[in-house]
Amino acid sequence: MVIKNVSLDIVCGITSKLPDTGRPEVAFAGKSNVGKSSLINSLVNRKALARTSAQPGKTQTINFYNINESIYLVDLPGYGYAKVPQSEKEKWGKMIERYLHTSKVLKAVFLLVDIRHDPSANDKMMYDWVVHNGYNPIIIATKMDKLKRSQIQKNLKAIKTGLNLRPGSIMIPFSAETKQGRDEIWALIDELTGQ
Ligand code: GTP
Ligand code: MG
Repeated sequence: MVIKNVSLDIVCGITSKLPDTGRPEVAFAGKSNVGKSSLINSLVNRKALARTSAQPGKTQTINFYNINESIYLVDLPGYGYAKVPQSEKEKWGKMIERYLHTSKVLKAVFLLVDIRHDPSANDKMMYDWVVHNGYNPIIIATKMDKLKRSQIQKNLKAIKTGLNLRPGSIMIPFSAETKQGRDEIWALIDELTGQ
């Protein structure tokens, strides 16, 4: 997609009513600090549209980015951040669940995992949960610039095994630093949203 204009249109807090945007949406899920907001910035060629932070737990709302008045990229709050109180975690979980459950225009869920590590229990839970909600998650293995080239295939395989990916699942290694994987992700988004 050629990005003509992009704006943060809707910010949903824990108690907000979820919007009915009427336009195709794709959502980005993953543990806190995995690089969801950085991925969105790379996709829209902006350095700081989506707020990023070395401190986990930056995105605590569901943020809807309007692309060319035609689709929405949806930044979900990160899970698994230890310093967040359990009660708060449960609220976020419920909010994400409500979103996956109720969006009528959600076309795909991208699940981000850090390419350096085996998937965590939370990653596995999120994967199973997205599948349970009727979506086949597309896996994005982030921060590939942090690995030597020779390690990439081995780590992708570990992620595939760790998440017990369904046959035919798509997995894309990505780096927000080098933009590797960006075009492939856009090609998928275009296809999934009928652009
Ligand atoms: P929450 O909003 O807390 O859920 O985090 P997030 O998933 O949105 O992560 P964010 O994009 O804020 O990135 C977290 C940190 O990782 C930041 O310091 C980013 O600069 C860094 N980061 C993200 N993607 C990459 C990448 O591909 N390579 C490298 N080297 N660093 C990255
Ligand atoms: Mg974020």
